Amino acid sequence: MDIGTTLTHFLLEEERKYNDASGEFTRLMSDLTTAIRAISSAVNRAGIEDVLGQAGATNVQGEEQKKLDVLANTLILQSMEAMGHVAGLASEEMDEPYAIPAGYPKGKYLLVFDPLDGSSNIDVNISVGTIFSILKAPRPGVDATVEDFLQAGAEQVAAGYTVYGGCTQLIYSTGNGVHAFTLDPHVGEFVLANQDLKIPHETAEYAINASNRRFWEPAIQQYVQDCEEGKDGPCGKNFNMRWVGSMVADFHRILMRGGVFLYPRDLKKPEQPGKLRLLYEANPMGFLAEQAGGACTDGMRRMLDIQPESLHQRVPVVIGSKEEVDRVREYYEKYG
Ligand code: AHG
Ligand code: MN
Ligand code: MN
Ligand code: MN
Repeated sequence: MDIGTTLTHFLLEEERKYNDASGEFTRLMSDLTTAIRAISSAVNRAGIEDVLGQAGATNVQGEEQKKLDVLANTLILQSMEAMGHVAGLASEEMDEPYAIPAGYPKGKYLLVFDPLDGSSNIDVNISVGTIFSILKAPRPGVDATVEDFLQAGAEQVAAGYTVYGGCTQLIYSTGNGVHAFTLDPHVGEFVLANQDLKIPHETAEYAINASNRRFWEPAIQQYVQDCEEGKDGPCGKNFNMRWVGSMVADFHRILMRGGVFLYPRDLKKPEQPGKLRLLYEANPMGFLAEQAGGACTDGMRRMLDIQPESLHQRVPVVIGSKEEVDRVREYYEKYG
C-alpha cells in the first residue's frame, strides 16, 4: 500500500519554495481540512444523524437555512477561531464577520466562505460542497472589519472548494496551478489526485438553469438559442447541457472536462444582479478558473477585477472554458 502525496506533504513542499514563509498558511489549510473532514462525515451520515432538513432560521440572503448550512458554518468557525491564523471570518450564513473571541490571537489572513454550497441538494443526496477564499488581513492582529473583506478577487492569497460526492475532493490553488486531493476515508488524509489541472479552452457543454429563460437578458437568450441550434446553427457544433444545482459540482465537471456555467442576471428579481455571491462563490471559483487556463466574468467584466461594495454582494457569473466565456462577452456586446 502506498500513502501517496498527502495534502500536508504537498503544502509543506509548496511552503519550502518560499524562504520567508512563516508556515502560517500551511497551518491554516491544515486546520480548515479538519472542519472539511467533519463536514464530509456529516454529509456521509445524512439520514443516520439528524443533519437533514430545515434549521428553522433564515439567513441574510433571505434563504431558509438547512441544518447542514448551519452545522458546516459552525464546524469551520470551531476549527479556525482558536488557531491564530485569521483576523476574522465571513460567510454566506453570517450577517456580519465573525470576530475572533477575546483571548485568542488574531492572525494575518481573512477567511471568507460558503460553508455548504448547493443546499437545495442536501436532502436528495446530490453532491454539495464548501467554497473558501483566503485574503490577507489589511491589519494583522486586529479584529477585521467588513471593509477589510472588500478586496477584489485578484487579491486572493488562495481559493478552493470541496465536493462531497462519490468521494470527498478538495481542490485549491495558491496561484501556482490548481491541484485536486481525494479524501482517503480509511487513512483520514487528503491524497493528491491531480496536479495542475487545466480547463479545455473549447467546449460543447453549457450549464444554466433553463427554467429562467423568460427572465434572461437578450444576450443570454440568443447565446443559449444558438447553442441549442447545434451544428446547423451559428455555433457550428452540437451542445450538451448539464445543471446540477450545486455550483461546486457544475464547476468541478467543467474543471475536469471543460464547459461553461452561466448564472446571469434575471428579471425574476430585477433588484438583484444575479443569484451568486461575489466574495465566496464567484471570486474563489474565478481565481481557480483563471489558474486552470479558463476565464470568469460577470458577462462583460473580468470577475477578479470587480471591487466589492458589500459582503454579500451578488453578481452575474459566466465561468469556464475561455473560448466560450469570451463568446458570451461578444453576445453582450452585440445584443446587450
Ligand atoms: P447555496 O446553496 O450556497 O445557497 O448556493 C446555491 C447556488 C449554487 O450552488 C447553484 O449553482 C445555484 O445556487 C443553483 O440555483 P438554482 O436553484 O436557481 O438553480
Ligand atoms: Mn453557494
Ligand atoms: Mn451556501
Ligand atoms: Mn444558500
